[in-house]
Amino acid sequence: MVNLDEDSEKIAALRKRLLGWYASSRRDLPWRRSADPYAIWVAETMLQQTRVAAVVERYQAFHDRFPTLVSLALAPEEEVLALWSGLGYYRRAFMLHKAAQFVAERLGGNLPTRAEQLRALPGIGAYTAAAVASIAHGEPVAVVDGNVERVLCRVAGWEAGSRKGGGAALRHKIEDLAGRLLDPARPGDFNQAIMELGATVCAPRNPQCLVCPLNADCITRGEHKMPERAPMTSRVVAYGISVRTRLVPGKRRGRIRREVLLERRPADVTVMPGMWELPLLLDPDVPTKELRMALRHSIMRVNYYVNIRTVFEDDVETMTVTGGERRWVPLREAAAMALTGLTRKVLKRARLTPSPPARVLARRRDETVPGEIL
Ligand code: ADE
Repeated sequence: MVNLDEDSEKIAALRKRLLGWYASSRRDLPWRRSADPYAIWVAETMLQQTRVAAVVERYQAFHDRFPTLVSLALAPEEEVLALWSGLGYYRRAFMLHKAAQFVAERLGGNLPTRAEQLRALPGIGAYTAAAVASIAHGEPVAVVDGNVERVLCRVAGWEAGSRKGGGAALRHKIEDLAGRLLDPARPGDFNQAIMELGATVCAPRNPQCLVCPLNADCITRGEHKMPERAPMTSRVVAYGISVRTRLVPGKRRGRIRREVLLERRPADVTVMPGMWELPLLLDPDVPTKELRMALRHSIMRVNYYVNIRTVFEDDVETMTVTGGERRWVPLREAAAMALTGLTRKVLKRARLTPSPPARVLARRRDETVPGEIL
């Protein structure tokens, strides 16, 4: 491997190889066609802890509905959360909305350009600030996300991901190396190239070292111990679908409206606070003949085995966990609410809300995304 400490010629060659690879291999992603700092901010916020394929599915709809920072700032929170549905980690959407409001109200709608100023906004951390400042404004600040961390640890031969002792020191070394390798002439492309390399070639398992542009610079070349992942745990949960019909008075005969019962998650829970879901059943074991649907849903390291049954309106009190805020929601309005990803999926599968367009389904083939149903 090159002596990355001293050899500036070798560093220049590494940059060139990485950027050359990126030019020919980069994925054509919607936000890469835009130079708008706001669009890049939204995309980079979505991309934290979420796979690119999942972001591609949601980004366009979000951007179509909130094309500018001011349109996002003016939107009701409920709607922002609804358009975030399926991406998980809803706190990001909440903070993005808050930051947009802050910029609209206090900074005249002008998103700061420098990483240091961006970091001062609510919810913007070092990663997002560096990504936006480098990609949108060419500021030479290195981005260090999980992918970059893995690439650099492999290149330098450092054991990655040690949570106990030494974690902060290792992190410091990684940030230092990232800063020295960063190409000051093209920081945005360089940052995206190294993230892209980690996402596609230098994958956690089975890295594709034969096609890696950093092969010659790398100490480990795939012979690298990865930190053990926490094992998945399993839980069984069950939800009820209750649908009722109401006659809505109209000019002549009125019309029938179908409503579904939804419950709002408490505001003080850590996972998906304030979002709407189906009522939880008291008994998670649903007899086979009553089972309307069974699916698996993964959130972080937990596999939820989810049973769904129909609950008649008269049985709601006795069969479900009551006590939270509940609402009978017209089915045609449900899809626009801030539903949990699981609830959205169940309502679609039950054909109670519209399915996504076929082209979106086609893209999902082999993707498994945290927070999505597998
Ligand atoms: N992961 C997060 N942001 C990214 C980007 N801009 N390009 C590639 N992978 C990413």
